[in-house]
Amino acid sequence: MTGTNLTAENTKNENNARECVGTAPKSFKIIGTGSCVPSRVVTNDDLTVFLDTSDEWIRSRSGIEQRHICTTETTSDLAIGAAKNALENANTTPDEIDMILCATISGEYICPSMAALVQRALGAQCPCVDLSAACTGWIYLMDTAAAFFARGGIRKMLIIGAEAMSRIVNWHDRSTAVLFGDGAGAAVLEPGENYLASSFVTAGGDEVIAIPTKNGISPWFEKEEKLPLVYMDGQETYKFAVSNLPKRVDEVLAKAGLREEDLDWVVPHQANKRIIDSASRRLKGVPADHFCVNLQKYGNTSAASIPLVLDEWNRAGKFQEGELIVMVAFGGGLSSAACLVRW
Ligand code: ACO
Repeated sequence: MTGTNLTAENTKNENNARECVGTAPKSFKIIGTGSCVPSRVVTNDDLTVFLDTSDEWIRSRSGIEQRHICTTETTSDLAIGAAKNALENANTTPDEIDMILCATISGEYICPSMAALVQRALGAQCPCVDLSAACTGWIYLMDTAAAFFARGGIRKMLIIGAEAMSRIVNWHDRSTAVLFGDGAGAAVLEPGENYLASSFVTAGGDEVIAIPTKNGISPWFEKEEKLPLVYMDGQETYKFAVSNLPKRVDEVLAKAGLREEDLDWVVPHQANKRIIDSASRRLKGVPADHFCVNLQKYGNTSAASIPLVLDEWNRAGKFQEGELIVMVAFGGGLSSAACLVRW
């Protein structure tokens, strides 16, 4: 995906949801958001019971104070909860949804897709597919949605980032276990002109972040099995993140012909407060308190992290119509991506 720049012609033709069918709308507008987290809260102190760590280390190195962790909930339960919440917020019924896209790396099934599980639970009837791009999954959802809207024939679309990272975190590895949490966020989209630009970079490889799947039971396969858990070189990920976040933001602004000062909000991937602070120091045109942060409550929820914070800010009424918001993420792949939307 090379990214899109949809600003130029987007000011014509105010499509409404019904009229767009069979035509070629330019992009979309977010008309509702939702989220869902498991009820069990695990504090940093809770982790010290079985890990050689401390609340002070976790707070000072990452900014995380607690995370929500599944006990009886599955990843799809969270996805379904966020989807229902977003539909309600968008005043939309499942029969109006023409496509469901879901991003996850921690679903309880490889097949059926998470999106198909959500479809069944909602009683919707539409095509469904999952995307896998780890923590940048949400930006890929937005861009894929934009491409489908540009093709035409979609009235409303539901996109969901859902993760139960607790299923795949190595709870014996203090350098990764303390960072992750579970949750889901969703948005309902309709044809509009509010998706302005995007930028994607992937530096492919499994050296820095890898989550293997199980080998299976083939009697012929000879390679050693790695446990299907998160492996992460934290320092290399950190370096990739601090250099790539500001670059992606610069790129989407350049594509849209805008400056940092034009931005109202930055919604970054919620992995580490130090990474967000570093990006904030680089992007001087945006006030530090206009970087949306809620990682202290949820930790890193991978593909769910941006929609979780988006929903919190939306429900708190902090985004005003017409404001410019950049969403920017990094993670497994290695990948990084940003997109620019008008609220
Ligand atoms: N508690 C106490 N000490 C710890 C812990 C812990 N939980 N984890 C590591 N340490 C120790 C290390 O052993 C090391 O000790 P040593 O100096 O005696 O060897 C020391 O703390 C410092 O470790 P560093 O790795 O240098 O710590 P750093 O300051 O780099 O912070 C961190 C580590 C928080 C992981 C940071 O590198 C980071 O946030 N990286 C980015 C991770 C990320 O954002 N991932 C997102 C993508 S994930 C995805 O896509 C699935």
